[in-house]
Amino acid sequence: MSDPIRVCFVCLGNICRSPLAEGIFIHLAKERGLTDRFEVDSSGTGGWHAGNPADPRSIEVAKRHGVLLPSRARQFESSDTDRFDLFLAMDRDNRDTLIERGVPESKVRLMRSYDPEYGKDESILDVPDPYYDGLEGFDHVYDMLVTACNGLLDELAE
Ligand code: 4NP
Repeated sequence: MSDPIRVCFVCLGNICRSPLAEGIFIHLAKERGLTDRFEVDSSGTGGWHAGNPADPRSIEVAKRHGVLLPSRARQFESSDTDRFDLFLAMDRDNRDTLIERGVPESKVRLMRSYDPEYGKDESILDVPDPYYDGLEGFDHVYDMLVTACNGLLDELAE
């Protein structure tokens, strides 16, 4: 049995987008019978919400789809660089911050680069920050993350 692939989903606060991505990825990997192939975590480039559960709106949207979000927020730390094989940044700011903090570019990907529509226009690069939106913003992010997580699983499970 080969070593698990260690993936970390990263956003700004680690309460809205990346815990949702983490929960969706775990859920979809389980559906595909691939749970043992991965170690999964998430973090934020900022530390304001460290120790907090995911935003109630992320929890609500996930729950509607049978996805659980048990993770607690934590800030990215430099030791993560060696702990993970792949960092999935929710947006270009998060990606740039990870690289500034020493993560090799070869380990960092934009989450939406696993969406078949990626890069077709400017709006299909980032998972937008839904923090100041209503629930519909979180629904939109949920749909994007399901598409990207499926693309990521297709690639990693090859
Ligand atoms: P996230 O959303 O990066 O998707 O977790 C945010 C959560 C909190 C803040 C910003 C974005 N904040 O400024 O506190």
